[in-house]
Formats: sequence, C-alpha cells, structure tokens
Amino acid sequence: MKDDYTPEPVAIVTGASSGIGLGISQALLGRCWRVVAASRTISKSRDLKASPNLVLVDGDVSRKETAVSVVDAALKHFDRIDLLVNNAGIFIAKAFTDYTEEDYNLVMNTNDASFFYMTQQVIPQMKKQNSGHVLTISAVLAEQPSRAAPALLAVLSKSPLAAASKALALEYAANNIRFNTISPGIINTPMHAKDDQAALAKFHPLARMGEISDIVDAMLYLQNATFVTGENIRVDGGVHAGR
Ligand SMILES: NC(=O)c1ccc[n+]([C@@H]2O[C@H](COP(=O)([O-])OP(=O)(O)OC[C@H]3O[C@@H](n4cnc5c(N)ncnc54)[C@H](OP(=O)(O)O)[C@@H]3O)[C@@H](O)[C@H]2O)c1
Repeated sequence: MKDDYTPEPVAIVTGASSGIGLGISQALLGRCWRVVAASRTISKSRDLKASPNLVLVDGDVSRKETAVSVVDAALKHFDRIDLLVNNAGIFIAKAFTDYTEEDYNLVMNTNDASFFYMTQQVIPQMKKQNSGHVLTISAVLAEQPSRAAPALLAVLSKSPLAAASKALALEYAANNIRFNTISPGIINTPMHAKDDQAALAKFHPLARMGEISDIVDAMLYLQNATFVTGENIRVDGGVHAGR
C-alpha cells in the first residue's frame, strides 16, 4: 500500500551544536525525526551521535549561501522539510553606547538575517508539500527588557521575530505553513556558562533559570498543535508578567 506510506518527518535546526539547538535536535532524533543540524562548527560536535537520520552542515546561517546549502542537504538526503527551527543566535550585553559597529552587524546578522534567509529557503518545499512549521527562538527580554542588565542589541534583534512570524503566518496560512515563536527567559545553556547562575535565577518570578528541557517541551507542544499559528509562547518563569 505505497499510498499509505508516511515518511518520518524532517527538521532543520540551526545552532544545533550547543544549548537549546542541541537539545531540540536530540529530542527530535529521539522521536524518530530526521534532522539536518547546522552551525558554523557542527561537524566538530561530539554531542550528536552519527546516524542515518542526521545530516550535519557547517556554515554561518546569516549568509544566504549557507541557507541554500542547508536546504539542499535536507532535500538531497531526506526529500522533505516539515519543521525549521530558527534557533542560532548570539547575545552581547553592554551599555547602549558601548556597542560597536562590529557588535551591531554580528548580532543583527546572526539573529535576524538567519531568520530571513533560512525561512525564505524552506518555503518553496513547504508550499509543495502543503504543510510545514517554522519555529523561531526569540527572547522574552525583547518585550520585557531589564534595567539591571541592559542589552539593547538583544532587544533590537529579537523583537521583530514574533511580529514577522505573525505576518508570515497570515501570508502562508493558505499553504498550511505555520509560524510560531518561543520567547525564553534565561536558560541554563553554555551561553551563560561564565555568568553567576544564582543571580540569573533571581531574574525570574519562579526563582530559577530555565532548563533546555523547558524549551524542548514548548517546541514539542507547538509542533503537535496543528491549529496554532502566529503564536508566541513565553517560557520565562513568569518574567513577562512583571517584576
Ligand atoms: N540561553 C538563554 O538564556 C537564552 C535566552 C533567550 C533566548 N535565547 C536564544 O536561544 C537561542 C539558542 O541559545 P543558546 O543559549 O542555546 O546558545 P548557545 O549555547 O550559545 O548556542 C548558540 C548556537 O548558535 C550557533 N551559532 C551562533 N552563531 C551562528 C552563526 N552565525 N551561524 C550558525 N550558527 C551559529 C552556535 O554554534 P557555532 O558556534 O558552531 O556556530 C550554537 O550552536 C539563541 O537564539 C538565543 O538568542 C537564549
């Protein structure tokens, strides 16, 4: 009964060599997804076990040519794309006037150009399938900045992602392609390895840092929630509610 055959779903995860992207990739692989994992150094990663269900693509995802090769790899190896997780990102916290032109270009390109190019590249295949989901990792500080820890470039680069995802949710609703965002609070990843963990915990009303599994849970919910699009889920220990 060839017509009844449903292939294992395929995800592209950017920033999969570390932290949230690594956790999402491992969770998907553990649920029999096929995964194309991308980052600048992913081929050196020791955390993702070699598997026929895993393809690694090295590259800077803020560049269009990387987005093209990641999508080419997904189609060549797995012939479909069900989920794109736009997760790659960087965080530079400093006083507004201390930011340099280099900081600006690095943060905006990594956090926003990657969303633009990666998302643009997956749309034709998702349209062909008449299904797909683009999930983007934002940050709750985009809507709830902190006086104690200024990070204007994080606000500037992350705040458009939920709005852009809502716009695309409308533009591609007729193609059954969903767009959602997750806004984490401070999550216990290598991004904060050198920071004072107890101090970071205090940012949250729930008085702890988030864990990668908290973001994985939200990702799994949104992936399964086929009537949810244009949504932003805050996984932030209550930060958005106020301080
Ligand atoms: N951790 C938090 O508290 C927190 C809070 C809010 C939002 N977020 C967001 O969550 C996402 C993941 O953060 P994380 O904490 O997991 O960070 P992380 O542990 O530092 O990992 C960042 C990942 O992004 C990749 N990456 C960075 N620049 C890249 C580029 N130009 N091209 C391709 N890959 C690139 C890195 O891999 P390579 O070095 O190999 O390229 C790495 O895999 C980010 O978007 C971040 O802004 C995190």
